Amino acid sequence: MDRIAEVRALLGEDIEAVDRELARMTREGAAPATDSATHLLEAGGKRVRPLTVLLAAACFGAPPAGARDLAVVAELIHLATLLHDDVIDDGQERRGRPTPRRLWGNAVSVLAGDLLLTHALERTSAAAPAPVLADLFATLRLLVDGEVVQLRGRTQLDPSEDVYFRIVRDKTASLFAWSARSGATVAGAPPEAARALGDFGVHVGVAFQLVDDVLDYAGDPRETGKAVLGDLLEGKLTLPLIRALAAKPALAADVEAVRAGDRRAASRVADAVRGSGVCDSVRSLARDETARALGALEAVPAGRARDLLGAIARELASRID
Ligand code: FPP
Ligand code: MG
Repeated sequence: MDRIAEVRALLGEDIEAVDRELARMTREGAAPATDSATHLLEAGGKRVRPLTVLLAAACFGAPPAGARDLAVVAELIHLATLLHDDVIDDGQERRGRPTPRRLWGNAVSVLAGDLLLTHALERTSAAAPAPVLADLFATLRLLVDGEVVQLRGRTQLDPSEDVYFRIVRDKTASLFAWSARSGATVAGAPPEAARALGDFGVHVGVAFQLVDDVLDYAGDPRETGKAVLGDLLEGKLTLPLIRALAAKPALAADVEAVRAGDRRAASRVADAVRGSGVCDSVRSLARDETARALGALEAVPAGRARDLLGAIARELASRID
């Protein structure tokens, strides 16, 4: 059993209640938006964000009822962003299945995302104190900003690591951070400990995205559930490509050709990225981020829940081992 399955087994009743509630919430609303949301939920997923909320709360005693609500919210927001993201990116496959937008169309996918977002906001305002809702609004703003800054890259080739890390912090790490921080807050954690858990979430999120971006070049689609070279074909500049371009500026001509629709240029770019050693340097950065995540946990009370948060961080990074 991998570490995440182990964490799920240990959280038992809490995570089962969250799973049941997610199944109910994705069905609550008008079809076919509900069909599309349910398809995505049932396609799988590790439920890492809900586990993070529950464990962050459990660091400060038995998780209160509100922690389950926020665990549901974290996954609803995640699913909403994926429904929208697949429209933005023309996504073909997710979690090894055709994306909802391919089955029901882009309009339904956007509305299904809106539906889940609405459920999530209602649930947060009913179950959590106002600062947690305000924190969620700020997080949603970051998610949108990250996606918009990334979108700018489609028209302007900007191989900047600073811009890349800003995108990653905003579009991916912000929701991990909110999950950890809000779980701690709803459980009555002191503000410094809640902040430390937020930092943990940021580093886990950055590590997660670095790993994802390496796997786009070096992964096995049977394991990732996503087609290889998706980022490249979408014209997305991720860290492996940014570093390969820095090492070999002449590659820019092929990258521009891919962005103009030349699929043969994509295999040349992919070979250059794979042959340049940059994937190893990005793997190593992901390990550094995981170490920082584990370091942030030192400000959190020691115990089983803290150990399990560490196990999640290690498991996410281990996808590249
Ligand atoms: C996946 O990234 C997408 C995200 C991490 C965030 C998407 C955010 C939005 C669409 C904006 C906010 C939306 C809402 C509902 C508030 P990716 O495309 O790099 O990964 P992938 O390969 O899994 O598609
Ligand atoms: Mg995408």
